[in-house]
Amino acid sequence: SSEPVRVMVTGAAGQIGYALVPMIARGILLGADQPVILHMLDIEPAAEALNGVRMELVDSAFPLLKGVVATTNVEEACKGVQVAIMVGGFPRKEGMERKDVMTKNVSIYKAQASALEKFADKDCKVVVVANPANTNALILKEFAPKFPAKNITCLTRLDHNRALGQIAERTGAAVSDVKNAIIWGNHSSSQYPDVNHAVVNVDGKEVPVRELVKDDAWLDGEFVKTVQQRGAAIIKARKFSSALSAASSVCDHVRNWVKGTPEGTWVSMGVLSDGSYGAPKDVIYSFPVTCKSGEWTIVQGLKIDDASQKLLDITGQELVDEKKLAYECLKE
Ligand code: NAI
Repeated sequence: SSEPVRVMVTGAAGQIGYALVPMIARGILLGADQPVILHMLDIEPAAEALNGVRMELVDSAFPLLKGVVATTNVEEACKGVQVAIMVGGFPRKEGMERKDVMTKNVSIYKAQASALEKFADKDCKVVVVANPANTNALILKEFAPKFPAKNITCLTRLDHNRALGQIAERTGAAVSDVKNAIIWGNHSSSQYPDVNHAVVNVDGKEVPVRELVKDDAWLDGEFVKTVQQRGAAIIKARKFSSALSAASSVCDHVRNWVKGTPEGTWVSMGVLSDGSYGAPKDVIYSFPVTCKSGEWTIVQGLKIDDASQKLLDITGQELVDEKKLAYECLKE
């Protein structure tokens, strides 16, 4: 199609924003034949930095980039957007309580929900990246009731891709031959990276990872821990949090959502829970999903063993607790 799609990135002057906007302008988000207009939002203290990013976009002469809006005005940023990538948020600083971070972020997401409702395209697809990602997405959904709930998601694709990467490293397979890992629940260290349904393509045959690795202690122990704590490991190594892998995973999330998942492949997305697999209802929970014609569907009928079910329940309970805390914060 030749009509440009309007894509908003909030927190665009931040680290993920800086990695993400060139990917979008290169066609990695929506395809190499899809022109885009970028709407970049940040807050007043970052206005000058945001303008610097705008200047670099101009200087890059991206053929697909048909326009740039760089603003600190939420309503202007939201105008007509068809994809909204919510990266902006208040970071946790040393000495801050969990509740303080939550209060800052839920009020940001409540306000931005209203702006999106008023000014974005009615079919706008939203992905929340900023933490607490699942709960920010839930607040956004609740305060933008005009959008169908299926249009509001949060990013757990980075965790999903990390799981694929760990399996590839362990088995020596190319990461493109690994699929169907699952991230269940919250994008936090309570998430459950589940390898039980993952397969590796070996000479054209799909082999379960458990058959290939034959090391349950690693699969149930170190693998799970490594994926859960990868974010912290990146911060330790780089002194900054993961930005390029987060940006790349945002592109995977949106591209699969819009253009579909390949036959026989699922991906992980934080979506509104309908209670599948015993997850609590009405929280944004990460499930295995397939996508077709711009809509996601939770994969049904997977066999979950007792040990896994316990872990699904734990991360679900954390989301229920976060939701409760978020509503307490909004009352104050
Ligand atoms: P950053 O601090 O470099 O950038 C955040 C940007 O948001 C800043 O430019 C800031 O000015 C802006 N901002 C703050 N309040 C805003 C508001 N009300 N409206 C618009 N913009 C606002 O942080 P970074 O590294 O880019 O990370 C962004 C968020 O993504 C963090 O919350 C981080 O925890 C989260 N994250 C989530 C991941 C996931 O897999 N879901 C992975 C990595 C990071």
